[in-house]
Amino acid sequence: MSPQEEIKKLTDELNQHNYNYYMLDNPVISDEQFDHLLRHLMDLEKQYPEFIQPDTPTQRVGGTVTKKFATIPHTYPMLSLGNTYSEEELYEFDNRIKSLVNQEVEYVCELKYDGLAISLVYEHGLFVRAVTRGDGVKGDDVTANVKTIKSVPLRLQGDFPDFFEVRGEILMPFARFEALNREREEIGEPPFANPRNAASGTLKMQESSEVAHRGLDFRLYYVMGENLPCATHYDSIHRLQAWGFRLPDVMERARNIHEVIDFMHKWDTERKKLSFPIDGIVIKVNEFSLQQQLGMTAKNPRWAIAYKFKAEKMSTPLLSVDFQVGRTGIVTPVANLEPVPLAGTIVKRATLHNAEVMAALDIREGDSLFVEKGGEIIPKIVGVDLDKRLPGAQPVPFITHCPECGTPLQKNEDEAGTFCPNELHCAPQIKGKLEHFIGRRAMNLDSLGEGKVEILYERGLVKNIADFYDLTYSQLLGIEKKFPAEDGKPERVVSFREKTVENILAGIEQSRKVPFERVLFAIGIRYVGETTAKKLTRHFKNIDALSSATKEELMEVNDVGERVADSIINFFNSSENLEIVVRLRKAGLQFELDEHENATVSNILDGKSLIVSGVFSISRDEMKKMIEQYGGKNVSSISKNTDYVVAGEKMGPEKRKKAEALGIPILSEEEFYQLVGKTE
Ligand code: IVH
Repeated sequence: MSPQEEIKKLTDELNQHNYNYYMLDNPVISDEQFDHLLRHLMDLEKQYPEFIQPDTPTQRVGGTVTKKFATIPHTYPMLSLGNTYSEEELYEFDNRIKSLVNQEVEYVCELKYDGLAISLVYEHGLFVRAVTRGDGVKGDDVTANVKTIKSVPLRLQGDFPDFFEVRGEILMPFARFEALNREREEIGEPPFANPRNAASGTLKMQESSEVAHRGLDFRLYYVMGENLPCATHYDSIHRLQAWGFRLPDVMERARNIHEVIDFMHKWDTERKKLSFPIDGIVIKVNEFSLQQQLGMTAKNPRWAIAYKFKAEKMSTPLLSVDFQVGRTGIVTPVANLEPVPLAGTIVKRATLHNAEVMAALDIREGDSLFVEKGGEIIPKIVGVDLDKRLPGAQPVPFITHCPECGTPLQKNEDEAGTFCPNELHCAPQIKGKLEHFIGRRAMNLDSLGEGKVEILYERGLVKNIADFYDLTYSQLLGIEKKFPAEDGKPERVVSFREKTVENILAGIEQSRKVPFERVLFAIGIRYVGETTAKKLTRHFKNIDALSSATKEELMEVNDVGERVADSIINFFNSSENLEIVVRLRKAGLQFELDEHENATVSNILDGKSLIVSGVFSISRDEMKKMIEQYGGKNVSSISKNTDYVVAGEKMGPEKRKKAEALGIPILSEEEFYQLVGKTE
């Protein structure tokens, strides 16, 4: 076979496997086989770039860097929908439509995804372009980034029109959103306020390989083009399925407005069970000919409307404002409120985010605040109840000094957060650094979890991360602390018995083998997250080269900007940090790139076959890597030889049935961590 033919064959084969995996949830080859084929294709593409296929699956993992997104005009303008919050207006919408077309109409009810609109252009069955809404007339070309989203087909099957456009929403599922924010907080980056902001920030990233890691998803909701084969919206969406698109999770026809209202009530409750965010429902006239007849107003189509779920809102007195110092030194103001029932829970506290948000709300002493909460969303302060403001009330000031250590607070010009710069001697920051260091993705010292680190810190045994490596058996044995009952949790006693101490010391011993990239992440340089740590270790190979690098040299590493470079330089400029590094080095930690980077953590899963299915708080690849690190083997289809199924959210029903039929234990993510003895 010629290289050209081989590239083409591999491309088709791998795309079919992707389809089996992501669309049908029914893989027919193992992940190892898939990776093997993919790597082979990558090699061939490198040798013969002239034969790269437009739908190559190698783009799914990214690799493109876009410095500035090109502006592209839309073929059809991207409209927005009229909104309503009231049932009343839904009846009015129905009456208006019936009077305009003089007949009963059928509607299609859909979920209103809370992400950002995207237009996908297909030409001759190939995905060629993804453009954001922009101003509705022109938007940004984000094709390389969208190609990493597995539910966007790159090549279609069947009998499709030559040119058409699919409209839909890019969104971030809750599990990925939460994992992303945890990661950001760990490295001192401000968290995203909601999944929509996270999705939109991700879509505009310059490196598509980063986008690939973030786990964006796509939901289609409309198709446009000439010569479309169907007469109704409902049928055309179903036809898209035959061409390789995934059907929307929910889409129902309604014969009249009453059925629409039933759908709306149902999803106002059911939405709490969804794994991705929605903020309402969308109602569309099904018949295309009627849509055309109805046309549009200046801004919106007349044939569709969005019903947005109400967030419940109440006014309640502000009792006080607490200022909490986080593990990275960021100070967060939190409002203590007179308890108020809202959307099923009692709200007592709500974040005020930062000084800017507080100032914009103009919160004064003795004010009552409006709190809002919708479904799964955390309570949010949306404004001040001015009717209840006391005459002469003074603004609530933002503090000027750290409430924990008294150091004057600082604020970077281009960031919203105020922070305590006393990184090395401010109690919550020290504890934060210690906890970060022992974390699962850092040194993985799980035997030190559950409050033990706090005890060691309070006793003065561990004041910085290097102190862990000086701990001795006799120092630890017999330590005990009572944690009082709190928030419904019973009283708890933590005691360092013989076995506990042995485990701790064994864990510390083991951690000497943790690879350099994780050590670098663990030592807690601000803004150096897991990915950046990996890139830095690959580039500099050892800590000496890294610590003596200039700003320019640091910025040669992909994704390292000025802020990260400055932070690294700052870190190594501190004699205290240098001393810690010297001590850790003496203790035998890895400060050089190890070529065998997937070092084994334990052999607890030796000889066991596991299969992962569904969505986890970490990526599926990370889950698989963890299985290997514990000596287990990843398999892709269930058989009687499978030992465990690790089931995330949204595990395929077929797989579950099969596992149950064969009597194979199904573990949740938590149960899996318990099995391998990993606790946070
Ligand atoms: S239809 C002309 N359907 O809501 C048709 N939009 O203002 C236009 N959205 O930004 C859109 N879910 O991105 C439609 N099922 C759905 C939707 C949906 C979310 C978004 C859309 C747009 C906004 C409507």
